[in-house]
Amino acid sequence: MSDIKLDDLVSLAKRRGFIFPGSSVYGGLSGMWDYGPLGVKLKDNLVQMWKDFFVSSRDDMFMVDAAIIMNKKVWQASGHVDTFNDPLVECKKCHNRFRADKVDLSYCAVCGEKNSFTDSRNFNLMFSTSIGPVGDGVGEVTVDRKLLEKKLRETEDELINLKSDNESQVYLRPETAQGIFTNFKNVIDSFYPDIPFGIAQHGKAFRNEISPRDFIFRSREFEQLEIEYFVKPENWQEKFDMWVGLIRQWFEIIGLKKDMITEKEIDEKERAHYSKKTIDFEFDFPIGKEELMGLAYRTDFDLKNIENHSKKSMEYKPKDGSSSYIPHVIEPSFGVERFILAVLSSSYKTDTINGETRVFLDLPFKLAPLKAIVGPLVKNKKEIMDLSLKVFKELKSIVPDIMWDENSNIGKRYRRADEVGTPFCITIDFQSLDDDSVTIRHRNTTEQSRMNYKEAAEYIKKQYLNVN
Ligand code: GAP
Repeated sequence: MSDIKLDDLVSLAKRRGFIFPGSSVYGGLSGMWDYGPLGVKLKDNLVQMWKDFFVSSRDDMFMVDAAIIMNKKVWQASGHVDTFNDPLVECKKCHNRFRADKVDLSYCAVCGEKNSFTDSRNFNLMFSTSIGPVGDGVGEVTVDRKLLEKKLRETEDELINLKSDNESQVYLRPETAQGIFTNFKNVIDSFYPDIPFGIAQHGKAFRNEISPRDFIFRSREFEQLEIEYFVKPENWQEKFDMWVGLIRQWFEIIGLKKDMITEKEIDEKERAHYSKKTIDFEFDFPIGKEELMGLAYRTDFDLKNIENHSKKSMEYKPKDGSSSYIPHVIEPSFGVERFILAVLSSSYKTDTINGETRVFLDLPFKLAPLKAIVGPLVKNKKEIMDLSLKVFKELKSIVPDIMWDENSNIGKRYRRADEVGTPFCITIDFQSLDDDSVTIRHRNTTEQSRMNYKEAAEYIKKQYLNVN
């Protein structure tokens, strides 16, 4: 288990503008998180690196960006309406609700009552809403909140069925995968790819988790990076193994330590309804060893279901004139929030510099939200300030992700930069006035070297171009 405390990451994320509790000004909203300026950069960098590695650098991948709200039939065909459930229990005394498989059922952790739980029942995790200007939708049901809550307690399953009969009712997608499957034919018809090929999608997914917890680990709104890789049925095992190899390479690229990752094959009874083989890649999070991402062999489950429900053929017609068939699918599914948490856990380090403990994020250059900070050694000397601003502007035109920092003393600036994983600090001092040289300080070693500021810009640019 990781020796980093989750509280340290939560506190750093909030203090330094990575991630804030959602709607915090109004007391928050459980399971929702907001990304601040550095969080946005970190997430963007992660997603871009993912796209570079899994999509742009390959010639067998296509990307789509499907609508979040899809026809309800998508979720009926995929099995989510019937089976995307978690077991729910409710304390008869305080009416708090829990996920039955995640709590000790002998007593209620909130009110302390012993043996107080209702029988477990299925709770569907999809968020529903209504589409169009409806008078018979979910909106009206919520007006009578008390009645709804009573009914919900008594007959949740019945209510779910009642909702799904409602014409205007739709769901927020619980996975991005279905937006890929529903565009399978569109991609084939516009690009005629040879098999094997993959379709990738990045975007939001929503799950009404019974117990969102552990910072961003289990959120109600999160992002997925998913690929459906279409293969000949007889080749599935070979391609599954190929994906295991690619995923291992990806972990290296983003700097996750090998010994923090475990590959766990999931038993048949634990697998999702659509999967014939699943490997969960677990990571040593501060909360323990937990699922980081999954790789599943989804067979032809989804395309066949779409064919049955839509009455449209999902067959692939090989160009060599051989018989048409429904491809099978290998699905690597990455959760962005879990990768952010893994990257923070893996890169969070402390050491002692001049007797003082310092925290730094040992992020790979490409992931780091800021590549360098630039500032003057002293603020009160006009020539140094002028040169510093000139250096900053020139550098920014070459390396956009840099920040100006003139606040507090240089030691404090270095600590701030280290804490958010900034690889370099560039300082303009008295000597710079004579020879246009600057100091460039390296995050991990804290060592400093001197070079001409144009050389410093080239040096940082090279990191951009050379480092994966
Ligand atoms: N399309 C397959 C699928 O969605 P999943 O195992 O349910 O499979 C895939 O989800 C990944 O999405 C997980 O491995 C995890 O990284 C991420 N994920 C799932 N639920 C999540 C949640 N509530 N909060 C954050 N990430 C989540």
